[in-house]
Amino acid sequence: MLPQVTTTVSATRQALQTFRAAGRSIGLAPTMGALHAGHVALFKQAKRENDIAVASIFVNPTQFGPGEDFHRYPRPLDADLALCESAGVDLVVHPDVAEIYPAGFETFVEVQDLQKPLCGLSRPIHFRGVATVVLKLLNIVQPDRAYFGQKDAQQVRIIEQMVRDLDVPTQIVISPIVREADGLAMSSRNRYLAPEERRHASVLFRSLEKIREEVERGERQAEKLIAAARHTIQSTPGALIDYVDIVDWRTLRPIDVLAGQVLVAEAVRFGTTRLIDNWRVDL
Ligand code: PAJ
Repeated sequence: MLPQVTTTVSATRQALQTFRAAGRSIGLAPTMGALHAGHVALFKQAKRENDIAVASIFVNPTQFGPGEDFHRYPRPLDADLALCESAGVDLVVHPDVAEIYPAGFETFVEVQDLQKPLCGLSRPIHFRGVATVVLKLLNIVQPDRAYFGQKDAQQVRIIEQMVRDLDVPTQIVISPIVREADGLAMSSRNRYLAPEERRHASVLFRSLEKIREEVERGERQAEKLIAAARHTIQSTPGALIDYVDIVDWRTLRPIDVLAGQVLVAEAVRFGTTRLIDNWRVDL
């Protein structure tokens, strides 16, 4: 049976009211649709750890910059609902833009410093759009737990900070990165890649693996590790580096020597498609 679909805030609240009144726990996995195995893993975990699994599918315009892919972002709703069903999702929240941002909307959430580095440099309004819509979805669904993928590491860090700073009573759960057979992190944007680009796109994972091997051998100098990764990416046809950075997981600020909670993060362009990947480690 296909999951129930709600398109308004009030219908969503109503659908969840009976469950909540019966004391049943609710897990939410927010998405923008064009679902793949990475999303399905979040849904299944939400279902395993809660009585009710809720997915949201909303292509959020405020997190796309001018000239980004908001209008061409894939919206295969029928296939998405079938995937939700197979993953055991009970309710899909699928509002339109006017429901989330009605005329007169003017409040935004900004996590001041964490939104600036890494992806924030090339996507300056992205994370305020993400934080705002995620806070709205948490307020609409009021889940016990909300599920996010480590694939989007900076997003995870920003949401954790926002939830802590604004006393949101939802537990944030982080799920590991789901990958294709060659290591490419699954992403809705992978379908933009031409066959030739797709063949080369595993370079993000391969360069991170190289860093991981070096770190396991004892290398702790960020500069050396970054140089090696940059070299691997630069020798790949069609790959253009946006950034390769090694940062402190808590502050997302660059570090010279790897210690404590470390994030190695990359963004690489193939043509008009921008891909990200990362490796998080506790040293
Ligand atoms: P979207 O890119 O659709 O991703 C939805 C969720 O799936 C995010 O938490 C993301 O980190 C996770 N995810 C995507 N690919 C993954 C992979 N390969 N392995 C594990 N998890 C993966 O991220 C967004 O949407 C939006 O910014 C959103 C949070 C929904 C706000 O609009």
